[in-house]
Amino acid sequence: MRDEMTVNALSGKRILLGVTGGIAAYKALDVVGRLRDRGAEVRVVMTRAATSLVAPLSFQARSGAAVLTDMWAPVSTADIDHIAYARWADLFLIAPATAHTLARMAHGLADDPLTTLYLAFQGPVVVAPAMNSAMLEHPATVANFQTLRERGVAMIPPAEGILACGETGPGKLAAVEDIIQAVIGVFETPALAGHLTGRHVLITAGPTREALDPVRYLSNPSTGRMGYALAAEAHRRGARVTLVTGPVHLAVPAGVRAVPVTTAEQMYQAVLAEHHQADIVVFSAAVADWRPARPSARKNKKTGDTLTVEFVRTPDIAMETGRDARPGQIRIGFAAETEDLVANARIKLEKKNLDFIVANNVSDPTIGFASENNRVTILDRSGRDYLFETLPKSRLAEKIWDLVIQ
Ligand code: C5P
Repeated sequence: MRDEMTVNALSGKRILLGVTGGIAAYKALDVVGRLRDRGAEVRVVMTRAATSLVAPLSFQARSGAAVLTDMWAPVSTADIDHIAYARWADLFLIAPATAHTLARMAHGLADDPLTTLYLAFQGPVVVAPAMNSAMLEHPATVANFQTLRERGVAMIPPAEGILACGETGPGKLAAVEDIIQAVIGVFETPALAGHLTGRHVLITAGPTREALDPVRYLSNPSTGRMGYALAAEAHRRGARVTLVTGPVHLAVPAGVRAVPVTTAEQMYQAVLAEHHQADIVVFSAAVADWRPARPSARKNKKTGDTLTVEFVRTPDIAMETGRDARPGQIRIGFAAETEDLVANARIKLEKKNLDFIVANNVSDPTIGFASENNRVTILDRSGRDYLFETLPKSRLAEKIWDLVIQ
């Protein structure tokens, strides 16, 4: 009997399946079924030749989603164009993969939805070739395999057996169960395919603004650079990234989903809605700790010499979500301190139920808030601390992910 772990091995994973025009195309129906049995969501893209062998409707019925077959056919919703499919997927599996499609991939052609998706997709790609033995051994095919391997494409070697042409030899599509196990293997060994493959990362970034009246607010000089750099790097390493961002002047990194917010309360609500689905949560926002208790509906007039405003606390997003964090989730916070850096950061690490805290000394204007660079000490739950020399925030983002993944 399969145990619970095996059954749910692909729970929540989004797999894009490319089907090309090999005789084994009908076996891809079984691939869809078994991926879904393991908990994966599956969408299918077919080459024209594949549609001559198996009706797209069969794949639509098996996957429960619209099948992409034609780049030029109008689509009913923006959600099923080829770029949307590339953003959606955690992994691109091509099974069976013909010599022709592998050649197009090796040479970067984009003449149909499948090859266009291959170029647009930034996550791990797995191919299961199937072809006649002579085609498999042709130097052109061998060279194309080599090129694809060098670019990180994982190959599931074809099996030996009786081929569609009646000959016996290597070239038969690998057993469906071996294909499924190879896909599971990519998620279980993320280091093989970009470290954060298949992980959901939720990041808060930037400042918040707390209104005093319709034209004035309380905020801080956070630029959001650190959180945006972490988001870009997590995406580059294969994660699906959601960035809950306060108002900043930065472009959202390609492939990252942004949820724009203004106030601490809005940021809290946005994080509450998503944190249970996240494998890793990073709290890099500089959230206002106080907000005016009663923001004026009208612009405050310059009457009198003083203005008294009563402030109330905003929710501490890291602390509140730490109370019922998903088991196994990794939580990373930041601590901006002007004194007793390490001691204060360690208190916050405990109080907010964090696994790591990135502490920096904000009394030094050359680092930290609103600067290009940062020098930080990272503390972990087991009592270790790591000092990093001054680095640009993009380099520091790499170091932080290296440490967390380790
Ligand atoms: O307590 P302090 O504000 O210094 O803690 C900083 C850490 O807590 C950061 O990771 C910050 O993003 C997070 N934080 C939060 N919500 C708040 C205040 C801080 O998530 N309201």
